Amino acid sequence: MKWEDINAHAKQWVKEAGERIRLSFDTTLNIQTKTNANDLVTNIDKEIEQFFIKKIREVYPEHKIMGEEGFGDELRSLDGIVWLIDPIDGTMNFIHQQRNFAISLGVYENGIGKIGLIYDVVHDELYHAIRGKGAYINEKPIAPVKETTVKESIIALNATWVMENHRIDHNLMIPLVKDVRGTRSYGTAALEMVFVATGRVDAYLSMRLSPWDFAAGTVIVEELGGVVTNLRGEKLDFLSKDSLFAANPSLHQSILKDYLKNGKF
Ligand code: IPD
Ligand code: CA
Ligand code: CA
Ligand code: CA
Repeated sequence: MKWEDINAHAKQWVKEAGERIRLSFDTTLNIQTKTNANDLVTNIDKEIEQFFIKKIREVYPEHKIMGEEGFGDELRSLDGIVWLIDPIDGTMNFIHQQRNFAISLGVYENGIGKIGLIYDVVHDELYHAIRGKGAYINEKPIAPVKETTVKESIIALNATWVMENHRIDHNLMIPLVKDVRGTRSYGTAALEMVFVATGRVDAYLSMRLSPWDFAAGTVIVEELGGVVTNLRGEKLDFLSKDSLFAANPSLHQSILKDYLKNGKF
C-alpha cells in the first residue's frame, strides 16, 4: 500500500508539473549556463524542481530529496526513502525543440529503486513502474523486453563517444557502431532508458550521467527484465555519477564481452 500511495501522489504531481511546463512554451525562458556554454538551465527547470520539493515535503516530511538543480538535500547516503529528481531531462531539447525531454522521478528505499516515473510531457505519455508490480505507459502494461543480437539491434548513444574524447578510447566504440543495425541519439537519458524498456531501442550507452538521470529509468527497465549497469558491467550506486549501460539481457552480455571488456571507464 505504501508504494501505491507514494506512486499515486507522484503521478499527480508529475502531471501537474507537465502542465506547468506546457504553459511555459508561450513564455520567454530565462536561460543560464552551468559548467560550460552548452550546459544549460532555465527558470522552468528550477521552478519545477522546487514545485516537487514543496509537494514532497508537505506530504512526506521524513523523505529525503536529491534534485539536479540543488534545491533538495545534500545527501551522503541513500538510507531511508529518497526521491531522485530530474525536473527536465533534456534541457537543451526543451529550449531548442520544445520536445524530446521528460520529467524523471525515482523513489528509492535504502538504495533500492522502488518507483520510477518518466513523463514525456509533449506526448502526454507517463511511464511508470513499481518494483514487482509491472511497468506501464499511461495505464497500459508494457511487455517484457525482447532479447536481440548485436547485428539486429538499434543502440542509442551520443556521437561524442565515437569521436576522440577524454572519457573513453573511442576506438572501442567504433566496431560496435559498425556492427549494429543502427544508432540513435535523442539527448535525453530518461527517454532513452524508456526506449530500452519499450524495445524502441535495444541498448543505451553513456559515459557519464548523474543519479537523477538514471534513477527512474533503472526501475522501469529492470521491472521489464532489462539490465542496467555501468560500462564495466557493475551495479550503479545511485549516489555518484557513473557511466551507464542499459540493454536487454543477451545484448548486454554480448556487448560487454565482445566490445567493452578492455575499456577503462
Ligand atoms: C542530460 C541529458 C543528456 C545527457 C546528459 C544529461 P539534462 O540531462 O540526459 O541526454 O547526454 O549527460 O546531463 O542536463 O538535460 O537534465
Ligand atoms: Ca542539466
Ligand atoms: Ca538529466
Ligand atoms: Ca535536468
